[in-house]
Amino acid sequence: MDTDSEQQNGTPDTVATPRSTVSRRAVIGWAGAGVALGGAAVGSVAAATRQDDPAPAPAAATGAEVPFYGEHQAGIATPVQDRLHFAAFDVSEKATRESLVKMLKEWTRAAAAMTGGREVGTGAATGLPEAPPDDTGEALGLPASRLTLTIGFGPSLFDKEGVDRFGLKAKRPEALIDLPNFKGDKLDPLRSGGDLCVQACADDPQVAVHAIRNLARIGMGTVSIRWSQLGFGKTSSTTPDAQTPRNLLGFKDGTHNIAGTDTARLAEHVWAAPGDGPDWMTGGSYLVARRIRMHIETWDRTSLKEQEDVFGRTKGEGAPYGRAKEHDDPDLKAMPADSHVALAHPDANNGLMILRRGFSFTDGTDGLGRLDAGLFFLAYQRDTRKAFVPLQQRLAGSDKLNEYIQHVGSAHFACPAGVRKPGEWWGQALFG
Ligand code: HEM
Repeated sequence: MDTDSEQQNGTPDTVATPRSTVSRRAVIGWAGAGVALGGAAVGSVAAATRQDDPAPAPAAATGAEVPFYGEHQAGIATPVQDRLHFAAFDVSEKATRESLVKMLKEWTRAAAAMTGGREVGTGAATGLPEAPPDDTGEALGLPASRLTLTIGFGPSLFDKEGVDRFGLKAKRPEALIDLPNFKGDKLDPLRSGGDLCVQACADDPQVAVHAIRNLARIGMGTVSIRWSQLGFGKTSSTTPDAQTPRNLLGFKDGTHNIAGTDTARLAEHVWAAPGDGPDWMTGGSYLVARRIRMHIETWDRTSLKEQEDVFGRTKGEGAPYGRAKEHDDPDLKAMPADSHVALAHPDANNGLMILRRGFSFTDGTDGLGRLDAGLFFLAYQRDTRKAFVPLQQRLAGSDKLNEYIQHVGSAHFACPAGVRKPGEWWGQALFG
């Protein structure tokens, strides 16, 4: 089987058909020419090239395959892709610990196959004619597209209104808090919470949607989707050398983020360390997801000067006030005190940093002729109590940006360390 990750990582634990008839080398050729070069390959990210290739191209630059197995889950520090399908699942009332474990094992096999550009199980068109195919088929012929699948466990999996459904209560990390209400929140319970989540990121939306759909299909009877969010146009970057993307307010977003190559900052701010909490979370990270609606129509009638004052950065270059270039160190005193950057910058927060990995969304209109659009904010951190919570408390209190946004969905998940090798499964350390 011509799958390069298998050569690097050993035998796959699922036998599946390569999805694309296009050779990976060809994919690398096309995408390498078309995709903006995105810095060096990071951590577990390696190019899907053969081992004898002299200089493997980084996956960020190739649109190829991001290895599924590794110390940390892919989809956190690895380079951000262009598209998102995020799904929060609830475990059904009839499910047991055993059925949940069985599903997680099947999910892991399917995730390893799909992130490797292969079909799930016996495939979309090659299984028993009498049975529904194992794979739904819409990604046939498409390359891996840098698909990453990242799993997280929500507070309610451990304790649902006082009920310990799966014998996990004692394993709930203290950092996996029920998030407090923040000033200005208008949260929709139907777009909040969840027992589990899967973040699917890829450069092709069809590949991301296919992945969530196939996991939901496998989980039928054990879990159901509680809510999901499609995202486009990443609003942050873990590859600072690449061109910074812009959010729907038209500003560069992700300029001062934690780079995927910055192992020191990742260790300090993103990965849970031994002793931080339960062992099963060591090497993992806590994810906060917030659906933030933007009042686009109001923003579009706002002067350029006011827009720039909101962030304390210029709109064109993205330079901090008082400086010339985007990546110049901000001078917080030169910015309005209530500007977003003056409030969120580490210098104003005792050095606090989070890894932002959000995406824009547009979900049609709201019935009043306004776009239902905004930022699906995703942030990873070592301990949410010391990162997102104080930061958001500060922003919710006095951020000038609040006039133009509203938080309408919220969820919190503990994302464990990576699956290190075939045969291991998502949640093994938690359930084991
Ligand atoms: C719709 C909502 C939001 C928009 C449009 C937005 C936009 C931006 C922009 C344009 C920047 C400046 C460029 C950069 O360094 O990335 C920025 C920086 C930042 N934002 Fe936001 N943001 C939003 C929500 C949030 C939230 C909810 C948080 C955390 C609770 C947050 C935390 C940060 C941080 C930590 C920085 C970096 C500041 C620095 O180090 O200079 N943002 N944001």
